[in-house]
Amino acid sequence: MEHTGFTLWFTGLACSGKTVLANGVAEELKKYNMKVERLDGDIVRKSLTKDLGFTEKDRNKNIERVTFVAKLLTRNGVAVLASFISPYNKIREFSRSEISNYILVYVKCSLKECEERDVKGMYKKARAGEIKNFTGIDHPFEEPNNPDIIVETDKQTIEESKQIILNALDNLGYLPI
Ligand code: ADX
Repeated sequence: MEHTGFTLWFTGLACSGKTVLANGVAEELKKYNMKVERLDGDIVRKSLTKDLGFTEKDRNKNIERVTFVAKLLTRNGVAVLASFISPYNKIREFSRSEISNYILVYVKCSLKECEERDVKGMYKKARAGEIKNFTGIDHPFEEPNNPDIIVETDKQTIEESKQIILNALDNLGYLPI
């Protein structure tokens, strides 16, 4: 079934739940037989942007390259789910200006909760000074100025957050009838 392409862009701290939510929404969209692609920081940084680190300049390059890919996919009718910390408003606005049908999801979760989850033990290393420029510790995360959707994963279950996103997509007219 033909459908309009769009990019659902998940921004938030490490361990906020971006990946699990984007994967969950992707699975739901596939049930509608939609063409779906995932772009995830942890995966993209092993290929397309493996030469980049975590300075402001490198993070911006990371997002610029991903934006380019998301733009091409979107204009070819794909539902793109991009999950990146993407900590700056300026580069998020760049993505919005480049990609048609860009929907920004702010995966909101307190630093305290993210740090408690610490799935990969990276916060602990960052606190110990073993990792530099870690988002939320010694590198900034700017709250999005104008997110289209906000989910609060320290207050909602993953299922609830997922439903909020799917309902918003439906209201925006992006789900097949
Ligand atoms: S972004 O800032 O450029 O958007 P991106 O989402 O691609 O970041 O990558 C984040 C992932 O890289 C995290 O999930 C974490 O596993 C890993 N990582 C390694 N070093 C850092 C760091 N200094 N800050 C944040 N994440 C880091």
